[in-house]
Amino acid sequence: MKAATRTSYGPPAVLTIKEVAIPPLKDHEILIKVHAATVNRTDCSVLWGKPFIIRFFTGLLKPSLPITGSDFAGKVENIGKNVSSFKKGDRVFGFNDTGLCSHAQYLVLSDKEAILKIPDKVGYPQAAASCEGAHYAYNVISKVGFEYVGKKVLVNGATGAIGSASLQLLKYYGAYVTAVCSTKHLALMKSLGADKVIDYTQKDFTLDDQRYDLVFDSVGKSFFRKCKPLLKPGGVYISSELGPYSQNPFLALLTPLISGKHGKKVKFPIPFNIRRSLTLIKTLLEKKKFKPLIHKEYPLEKIGDAYDFVVTGEKIGNIIITMQP
Ligand SMILES: NC(=O)c1ccc[n+]([C@@H]2O[C@H](COP(=O)([O-])OP(=O)(O)OC[C@H]3O[C@@H](n4cnc5c(N)ncnc54)[C@H](OP(=O)(O)O)[C@@H]3O)[C@@H](O)[C@H]2O)c1
Repeated sequence: MKAATRTSYGPPAVLTIKEVAIPPLKDHEILIKVHAATVNRTDCSVLWGKPFIIRFFTGLLKPSLPITGSDFAGKVENIGKNVSSFKKGDRVFGFNDTGLCSHAQYLVLSDKEAILKIPDKVGYPQAAASCEGAHYAYNVISKVGFEYVGKKVLVNGATGAIGSASLQLLKYYGAYVTAVCSTKHLALMKSLGADKVIDYTQKDFTLDDQRYDLVFDSVGKSFFRKCKPLLKPGGVYISSELGPYSQNPFLALLTPLISGKHGKKVKFPIPFNIRRSLTLIKTLLEKKKFKPLIHKEYPLEKIGDAYDFVVTGEKIGNIIITMQP
């Protein structure tokens, strides 16, 4: 099979597309023909080995997995003799934030991985685009609880993979959502359900006169002190990034201690339980309540270009890699 391989951390130049053997199938494993995967921000961290902390999960000095890719959508080609939850021909999708070797034409995975069946009428690219951003979005939203009816939330960067999933999940749970994006995506944000849209090229969103229960900076462009005036008493600030001085994890420990019951707090979710996130997303795909955004598709051979584009920070939703036969 063809696969995107590497032996060291670094920029996309470390990747080589080459023919490698399909791994042998063990009794509890599934062989999947990959139809689509994404290149996402998690893949960028795993490719570069940055921030350094990720290397405790992906290999300290060099990557432990030889093939990149953390999500996939494809078809079950074969199953090990102890596998009962899947059969040949099932359309499946899945994600693992430390890597799955899915930038390849075939994939062998344990049946214990977060693998779910793709709902009917959902295409492979759409299924692959429903994993990474949606998982992080779910973890952010659940960090504050699920009682969003009557609550107001601002999502900065609502066009990203995490932002666009957050907007839709928050609407599903009943929140009033203000989406912050650039001029050309105002209509897109409305079409995904945003109640109010702020064009960040025209107005500093931190000067908005609305007060919010949750401000989620899904692209990490702001910081707590600047967003604090936007929060209601007891309001929560969450960012997808550590912050300019890596302060967000510390503020998440400090603000609950010093701000009191009705004080404004920082939370810093550590994403976990991928199966739980994907199960919700699968249900929402079935109900047509979730629409993954896809910006562009690249063939596997052009995966370096896909990485280069993702790190520009200009992608709208997700970037798909397609595997040709
Ligand atoms: N370290 C990790 O493992 C990891 C994993 C996942 C995500 N993350 C972080 O999570 C963040 C989001 O990732 P993502 O994949 O959802 O999205 P992304 O690729 O970072 O999204 C970029 C989006 O942000 C918008 N944008 C750019 N500048 C903006 C600004 N100043 N204000 C508001 N929007 C802006 C862009 O649209 P316009 O250009 O049209 O505004 C684009 O749609 C990233 O910062 C990423 O590093 C980190």
